Amino acid sequence: MPEPQRPFRVGMIGVGVISAQYFASLEKLPKLKLTAVADLDQARAATVAAEHGVDARTVDELLASDDVDAVINLTIPAAHVEIGLRALAAGKHVFAEKPLGLSTAEARPLLDAQTGGLRVGSAPDTVLGTGIQTARKLVDDGVIGQPVGASVHWSSPGHESWHPAPGFYYQPGGGPLFDMGPYYLTSLVTLLGPVVKVSGLASRSGRERVVGKGPLAGTVLPVDVDTHVTALLEHEGGAISTVTVSFEVWASRAPLFELYGTEGTLAVPDPNRFSDPVEVFAAGSEAWRTVPESAGYRDAGRGYGLADMAAAIAAGTPHRASAELAFHVLEIMEAVLSASASRSTVTLASTAPRPAPVPLADTP
Ligand SMILES: NC(=O)c1ccc[n+]([C@@H]2O[C@H](COP(=O)([O-])OP(=O)(O)OC[C@H]3O[C@@H](n4cnc5c(N)ncnc54)[C@H](O)[C@@H]3O)[C@@H](O)[C@H]2O)c1
Repeated sequence: MPEPQRPFRVGMIGVGVISAQYFASLEKLPKLKLTAVADLDQARAATVAAEHGVDARTVDELLASDDVDAVINLTIPAAHVEIGLRALAAGKHVFAEKPLGLSTAEARPLLDAQTGGLRVGSAPDTVLGTGIQTARKLVDDGVIGQPVGASVHWSSPGHESWHPAPGFYYQPGGGPLFDMGPYYLTSLVTLLGPVVKVSGLASRSGRERVVGKGPLAGTVLPVDVDTHVTALLEHEGGAISTVTVSFEVWASRAPLFELYGTEGTLAVPDPNRFSDPVEVFAAGSEAWRTVPESAGYRDAGRGYGLADMAAAIAAGTPHRASAELAFHVLEIMEAVLSASASRSTVTLASTAPRPAPVPLADTP
């Protein structure tokens, strides 16, 4: 366990596309110090380590390192739980990219392995930025009255047009639901509270998925997930959300994310980003109004959830981007697919309280 004064030392496992955003954040977070990186692709790890002036180690070496307090796990979804459990067994805290795991059965051991003061955190930490936190403050302050419902529409033709190794997006743990769902569902739990029941329908068109860029360009990808998903969620407080996420849409004019209340509508900013503006349309008014940021970490980036967790460890308080929240979100996603398969409504077994609000601040 780190002493309060010294930086929280971090080892990163998995240095692919998204790692660049974490490196950029780590430069803004003086309480975190990157000491080493590792990747199955050791040549990639060596290149990235040289760029950032840190050690390249094998995964085994990094997990055995004395100068690593926490592991940032940026591997593909199929490796999140395995790497996480190995890190916890080696006495390290873990903060992982989303989803928490491929299924609740696979991910549950992560919850149980948080013993001896060790913590597990999970993306998305975008919800800790000023965008979603300002929206949450408006809801809590009653600006839109009693929340009645929310509507989400995220769609694209699919990530194979831009990602150099997009195979994982079409395997379990991927698809629009497990890939993009966590941003919206974590935001919905933050804004409206936990979900008690879901129903949903999911399908796939069978359209061929071909890698568009990089050394794998032209490769046809196997598709083992549904690529168009619509869900209905009933929140504990009674509000209902409709959520559509899709890799089947070439163009759309649907609003991304809206919250409807008895006194107005809130245009919720993109929950895959940190600091976009929030707009409100108040009952009886004539126009949308942009609301100044009033809560959340300013100009945050990926990795702020780990900094928030490090601060919470030092203070002995709960961290916000918690494994329990990510587990609840994972169960929502799993339940949407099983509701679709059984053409029924599924009652959830898990819950997660709304995480504590983030007061306006520069860093955790
Ligand atoms: N690419 C994005 O825009 C983006 C955005 C947000 C979140 N994410 C999430 O980040 C994670 C990684 O995505 P990415 O786009 O960086 O993928 P990527 O394929 O570019 O990188 C993953 C890296 O992990 C390594 N890896 C895989 N299994 C490993 C293992 N068992 N041990 C060690 N290294 C291993 C791979 O060699 C690769 O370098 C995913 O969970 C994804 O959902 C990605």
